[in-house]
Amino acid sequence: MSLIPVIAIDGPGGSGKGTISREVARILGWHLLDSGALYRVVALQVRQESIDLADEAAIAALAQSLDVRFDTAAGEERIWLQDVDVTAEIRSEACGVAASRVAVLGAVRAALTERQRRFQQLPGLVADGRDMGSVIFPDAGLKIFLTASVDERAGRRYKQLNEKGISVSLRTLRRDMADRDKRDSERPVAPLRACSDAKVFDTTGLSIEKVVSTVLDWASDTWPGQAAD
Ligand code: C5P
Repeated sequence: MSLIPVIAIDGPGGSGKGTISREVARILGWHLLDSGALYRVVALQVRQESIDLADEAAIAALAQSLDVRFDTAAGEERIWLQDVDVTAEIRSEACGVAASRVAVLGAVRAALTERQRRFQQLPGLVADGRDMGSVIFPDAGLKIFLTASVDERAGRRYKQLNEKGISVSLRTLRRDMADRDKRDSERPVAPLRACSDAKVFDTTGLSIEKVVSTVLDWASDTWPGQAAD
């Protein structure tokens, strides 16, 4: 196990990873890596610069030199691309779908690897993504794979987007989510799947509080006296 503790939380979109990771990191006072946001920012810039999705080398070069900044100073996460606040823009479903298209490119994933590993800093890291336990932090002391039924995940995402004033159809959302799951699970590079040493946790029907408290219990079992008891 690495000296700087890492909790790797992987799973499909809408499984609650983002909310759970943020809350666990906040309670423990640990750093947070929202790796999906990196893929979303790359996708946004690819669109802004009208780069062809087939041009893997150009997208990898862009990912390598990405001028992205995560800012949590004001208590909420803000994401800056160069000097522009893209926090809201990257959360759109279109950006999520575009992110899953750039995420199939091996050279793009490789270009983002070191950047993600640099988030491993004291006192600890909660890393949220698809390949945190399998590829980026294979030595993570605690690996969790969150799942939930596709209906429940689509319903959660629908509620989340509505609260942000983004209107979407539940049917389209469910279809896009199922397509995205398929693309993420079937890609040859770093496919979405639980590693053999991950705790698979089905959150269907569970409250956020229940999931957070279970993860915190596992963290204190893994690092007695170090992670909040
Ligand atoms: O988690 P989020 O929905 O923000 O991720 C957007 C997309 O980025 C995912 O559908 C997935 O294709 C990709 N992704 C990835 N590996 C990660 C995080 C996200 O491939 N570690």
